Amino acid sequence: MHMKFHIITIFPWSFESYFNSSILKNAKEKWLFEPIFYNLCDFSVKNTRRVDDRPYWGFPWTVISVEPLYKAIEFIEKKAGKSLKKIFLSPTWKIFNQKMVSKMVQKFDEIIIICGHYEWIDARIFEIFQIEQISIWKYVITSGELATMVFIDALVRYIPWVLSKDSLREESFSLGLSWKKEYPQYTRPEEFQNHKVPIELLSGNPKTIDEWKKKNLG
Ligand SMILES: C[S@@+](CC[C@H](N)C(=O)[O-])C[C@H]1O[C@@H](n2cnc3c(N)ncnc32)[C@H](O)[C@@H]1O
Repeated sequence: MHMKFHIITIFPWSFESYFNSSILKNAKEKWLFEPIFYNLCDFSVKNTRRVDDRPYWGFPWTVISVEPLYKAIEFIEKKAGKSLKKIFLSPTWKIFNQKMVSKMVQKFDEIIIICGHYEWIDARIFEIFQIEQISIWKYVITSGELATMVFIDALVRYIPWVLSKDSLREESFSLGLSWKKEYPQYTRPEEFQNHKVPIELLSGNPKTIDEWKKKNLG
């Protein structure tokens, strides 16, 4: 599987360090996932590179205008030759979770993501296109880029061959752990400042270890 993320942003460079580290870097190099960046300023009206304007209710904040967003989405879908799944990361009531992650990876191999900034994006874009709004939790951050990195990272882990099936089977909030939080983990040394690794984990007995793991799910 090869999953493409078309990212509409005014800060394409902000993704560089995260997407070039660890699992995302490996997945990119193995051609399992591909982020494609579209600088919204390239779609500005009359090539002014300005993509925001003041809202109707007042100053001093601004809102991302509808025209550049429309032009960017139209450009991407024309290039793809089809209509694509569209997502806007936004502080809304639909909170992103692990069940949504696995469903999305199964359903889509290409997604358009809009990164918001300023006050919001002109709401008419939701009348023109079907765009799903997803929040990374109930707080406000400055920009959609960070939320988009969170969203993409969670999805990339579920693309087949990115991680081994074993590592996904026992992750927090996965079916393998009955959607619960994973048990605590320990590594060497066996004792540190009088704090010991639980005796069950040192037993070498798979049944005892499994029972301990089940008992310690969060
Ligand atoms: C400063 S925020 C806008 C906040 C907006 N005025 C409000 O009160 O809901 C700018 C952008 O950051 C992103 N953002 C902020 N909080 C988010 C969250 N919890 N989840 C996902 N995206 C978020 C969205 O793309 C948003 O348009």
